[in-house]
Amino acid sequence: MTTIGSPLSPHATKVMLLGSGELGKEVLIALQRLGVETIAVDRYDNAPGQQVAHHARTITMSDPVQLKALIERERPHLVVPEIEAIATPMLEELEAAGTVRVIPTARAARLTMDREGIRRLAAETLGLPTSPYVFCDSLAELQAAIDTRVGYPCIVKPVMSSSGKGQSKIATAADVKTAWDYAMAGGRIQGGRVIVEGFIDFDYEITQLTVRSVGSDGAIETSFCEPIGHVQVNGDYVESWQPQPMQPAALQKSRDIAKAVTDNLQGQGVFGVELFVKGDDVWFSEVSPRPHDTGMVTMCSQVQSQFELHARAILGLPVDTALRSPGASAVIYGGVDAHGIVFDGVDKALRVPNSDIRLFGKPESFLKRRMGVALAFADDVEMARAHAKKAAGWVTPRAV
Ligand SMILES: Nc1ncnc2c1ncn2[C@@H]1O[C@H](COP(=O)(O)OP(=O)(O)O)[C@@H](O)[C@H]1O
Ligand SMILES: [Mg+2]
Repeated sequence: MTTIGSPLSPHATKVMLLGSGELGKEVLIALQRLGVETIAVDRYDNAPGQQVAHHARTITMSDPVQLKALIERERPHLVVPEIEAIATPMLEELEAAGTVRVIPTARAARLTMDREGIRRLAAETLGLPTSPYVFCDSLAELQAAIDTRVGYPCIVKPVMSSSGKGQSKIATAADVKTAWDYAMAGGRIQGGRVIVEGFIDFDYEITQLTVRSVGSDGAIETSFCEPIGHVQVNGDYVESWQPQPMQPAALQKSRDIAKAVTDNLQGQGVFGVELFVKGDDVWFSEVSPRPHDTGMVTMCSQVQSQFELHARAILGLPVDTALRSPGASAVIYGGVDAHGIVFDGVDKALRVPNSDIRLFGKPESFLKRRMGVALAFADDVEMARAHAKKAAGWVTPRAV
């Protein structure tokens, strides 16, 4: 039985989000609705999730000393990582000491904090199909890996990066040095390691949202959302829709892969398993042990959004992954580098049939920073995509 205390009382059920961006903000709102006391942590003040939580804390989450001090002071029941750049060995220490429960587990947070842990687990331990890959620490190693193992075209990515930062596609030998320099500049850690992957010429790619929750018999059960299709530009998501039509064999393989990875990672919550599909072939790409950016579409397409699913699953509550309607999401970028921007045209956007928007409330805009998302549901995915893009197109960010 799950008991939830009153927030701000001695019996409060307390959940701490490590990272309070747009995904964390929606998880926090879902937790608030269930009467949970929330603590939103980020590296800067007034992050989106900090604007809706009971408590806001600003620390450097990659610093183990600051992270430990905060968790020991706040004593949350659950710690929910929303980003990758966290001192995960410290989370493992605190979890092992019984200080806190980490979602889904501290080990899962550590394995997925860079590309190496999760890729080696998937390909080498679990034997799942992935692109051919090599990890490299220098330009010379990168060139040798391409010449002997990976070939052209290939993709180079910093081991520590997300949203396509520092990532580039190499078509010929002439591009190798540029890709190396770009990865060194774009990675989260200077002078870091890269992964070079053979390019998979997929028909389409999906996010298979997978939920591990507690069933009525008390055992963990795994449920799957309908597959989400998406378009990435330079490694960053611009558009997603649900359901992505799939042949039964490819869907079954996708779910088998998602089950194998999430069974190994353990714990409770939502996982975003990224897969490439060509005909009946499916390749594992990566997994987020948390809601996924492409899964924002579920706010208009599912009975329970991925954020509600995450909140329920981590609290031990039952989940329902049913689709409500075909739907789509389209990203709204900042378009300018400025603080405190304004958004024109929101009224026009919301006149698009069955549309909705989220403006994340980020204090600072960058040209390519994700500042909001437009959502639309419709009788079919094509119509939903057209409407979501139309709604996003009406919203015009402007510096004042
Ligand atoms: N080996 C690959 N072959 C083809 N496309 C790829 C490959 N690796 C990445 N991509 C493309 O780049 C996108 C971002 O790569 P990903 O590894 O998911 O990085 P991130 O962690 O930044 O999301 C993928 O969704 C896919 O569109
Ligand atoms: Mg990805």
